[in-house]
Amino acid sequence: MEKVLVTGGAGYIGSHTVLSLLRSGFEVVVIDDLSNSSRESLVRVQTLAQKNVEFVHASLLDETKLKATFSAHNFSAVIHFAGLKAVGESMQKPLSYYQNNLISTLNLCQCMTEFKVNKLVFSSSATVYGEHATPPYTEELPLSRASSPYGQTKVMIEQMLQDIVKAGSLQVASLRYFNPIGADQSGLIGEDPLGIPNNLMPFVAQVAVGKRDKLSIFGGDYPTEDGTCERDYIHVSDLANGHVKALQWLSLQQQPLYEAFNLGTGSPFSVLAIVKSFIRHTGVDIPFEIAARRSGDLAAFWADASKATNILNWQCEYTLADMMKDTWHWQSKNPQGYQS
Ligand code: NAD
Ligand code: WQD
Repeated sequence: MEKVLVTGGAGYIGSHTVLSLLRSGFEVVVIDDLSNSSRESLVRVQTLAQKNVEFVHASLLDETKLKATFSAHNFSAVIHFAGLKAVGESMQKPLSYYQNNLISTLNLCQCMTEFKVNKLVFSSSATVYGEHATPPYTEELPLSRASSPYGQTKVMIEQMLQDIVKAGSLQVASLRYFNPIGADQSGLIGEDPLGIPNNLMPFVAQVAVGKRDKLSIFGGDYPTEDGTCERDYIHVSDLANGHVKALQWLSLQQQPLYEAFNLGTGSPFSVLAIVKSFIRHTGVDIPFEIAARRSGDLAAFWADASKATNILNWQCEYTLADMMKDTWHWQSKNPQGYQS
């Protein structure tokens, strides 16, 4: 059985991907420092899959523990989720973001080289297309300067990985996520942000459960149909499945390679459309107000995801209605997240 190392596997996307991997027959070892997650997510993943996950509580910045993890297992591939991800926080703490995200990735690549583990799936983001690309975004667009230090770490890591591929034997699939939302259909695992959510969907879910009074919609005067921003929201379980498909594709490849793939549905929805859809599909009201624009937000972007469909044989299975219902299922079952 193939054994995969999943960095950051206790987090939101990581935990859903670990579940998909176990269900697809992979063995999984997770390394996570739990700086933005809890051990409980993986306990629940094990319950859902009826399989074990080995857990290493360590930071990728700790080279000794990372090396020990590689030396204790024979990994066929790595999926690299670990990193800091809050756009706003990265403006306040650029040093932490460059330090954590870049050095972690370098340490990981060092170990992969030393232990001859060649296959890597990297969590990238639509943010690497920068501020001036015209949607739908295709992978042929050049990497552009991102608008935040967080986004910049994704651009820089993609560039680093391309250079490492050219000089060695690494095979890399960089998956550029659009806006992941939703939760596993069981309602047992989901997104559990610390403090006030930065992202739309967890904020909506917390208003629905009574933790927050109302949603502020950032900007009502964008050049879109209803004046609010448009994004390409993708169900986290579809995203998780994209990682399994990427691993399966990488396992067939013999030569060093670097390929980027967009993971999105290809259909944009406005903030107002999301709020209305949530109300319609859950029956729970979401009080909201139109507030000032949030600095750095783009009016609209979405994916051309045909490359992932054609090459990875990947397709989205969940609808916007599923994304709303599954978000609410998770939040209503776990009003305090994993502390519930
Ligand atoms: P998350 O914060 O839930 O998961 C990241 C995990 O990495 C957490 O469990 C955290 O504890 C861990 N971690 C952080 N630094 C670490 C380190 N140095 N060593 C070990 N573990 C560490 O975030 P997520 O939403 O699941 O995102 C996963 C990845 O996908 C991230 O790289 C993120 O940048 C990327 N991404 C996320 C989104 C999104 O909207 N959620 C979009 C595009 C890309
Ligand atoms: C979506 C829309 C907001 C909160 C971010 C990162 C991106 C990627 C995904 C990691 C926007 C609006 C939000 C709120 C609102 N992450 N909104 N009220 O900004 O598209 O993407 O997450 O790589 O890099 O930038 O996602 O969920 O924050 O916002 O009106 O309370 O919802 O203005 O239009 P975003 P988001």
